[in-house]
Amino acid sequence: MSFYEQRILPRLINCACGTAPIMKQREKVVPQARGTVLEIGIGTGHNLPFYDPTRVTRLIGLDPSGTSWKLAGGRAAQLAFDVEFIGLPSERIPLDDASVDTVLVTYSLCTIPDAVAALRGMSRVLRPGGKLIFCEHGKAPDTDVCKWQDRINPLWSKLLGGCNLNRDIQGLLAAGGFHIEQMDTMYLPGTPRFTGYNVWGSAVPA
Ligand SMILES: C[S@@+](CC[C@H](N)C(=O)[O-])C[C@H]1O[C@@H](n2cnc3c(N)ncnc32)[C@H](O)[C@@H]1O
Repeated sequence: MSFYEQRILPRLINCACGTAPIMKQREKVVPQARGTVLEIGIGTGHNLPFYDPTRVTRLIGLDPSGTSWKLAGGRAAQLAFDVEFIGLPSERIPLDDASVDTVLVTYSLCTIPDAVAALRGMSRVLRPGGKLIFCEHGKAPDTDVCKWQDRINPLWSKLLGGCNLNRDIQGLLAAGGFHIEQMDTMYLPGTPRFTGYNVWGSAVPA
C-alpha cells in the first residue's frame, strides 16, 4: 500500500464524508439500526453518534482500513454499547449465518471491489426479520449527469481509493439478493450533481 493510500487517503475520506449534507443523511438512516448491528465499511466512524443506544445492543464494524478506524478514536469511546472492529474486507464477513439483526452500509457500496459478493454475505448473516439499512451515492437518473459521472470516474476512482461515481445501487442490491422495502432518492443540496445523487432506505433478503 502506498504512503498516499495508507496515510493521506483515510484523512481525505474522513473530511469528505463529514460534510453537513452527508451528516444529515446519516441522521435519517442510522437511528433505524437495532439489536446486534454489523456496519460494513465503518471507516472513521462518522455514523457512531447517530446510533440509538436504547435500540442497539452491540456493534461490529468491518473495514479493511485499520488506519481509518484509528481516526474514529473518540467517537467510539463515548458509546453506551459494545463496539468491536474487524479489519477485513466485506467480501469475507467472518460471522455466523443468521447472527445479526441489522446490517448498515453507508457510502461504501461505491468502493467495495466485489459489492455483489459482499451483499450476498450481508444477506447470509442477517437473522430472519433482519434488515439492511443503506445510504449511498451512485449512478444518477439524468443522462447528462451520468455522462459526467462516466467521464470523471476513472480519475476519481484512482484518487479516492476505488470509489466509483456511477454504480447502480438498486441493481447491486438486487444482484446481491436483496428486495428493497423502502427507498428515497435525491441530489444532496450544496453538492456537485455528479457525486450528490443519493439513494437510501431499507432492504431484506429476497
Ligand atoms: C467513502 S468511505 C465511507 C466510510 C463510512 N462508511 C462512512 O459512511 O463514512 C468507504 C469505506 O469503504 C471501505 N472499504 C473499502 N474496501 C472495502 C471492502 N472490501 N469491504 C468493506 N469496506 C471497504 C474503505 O476502507 C472506507 O472506509
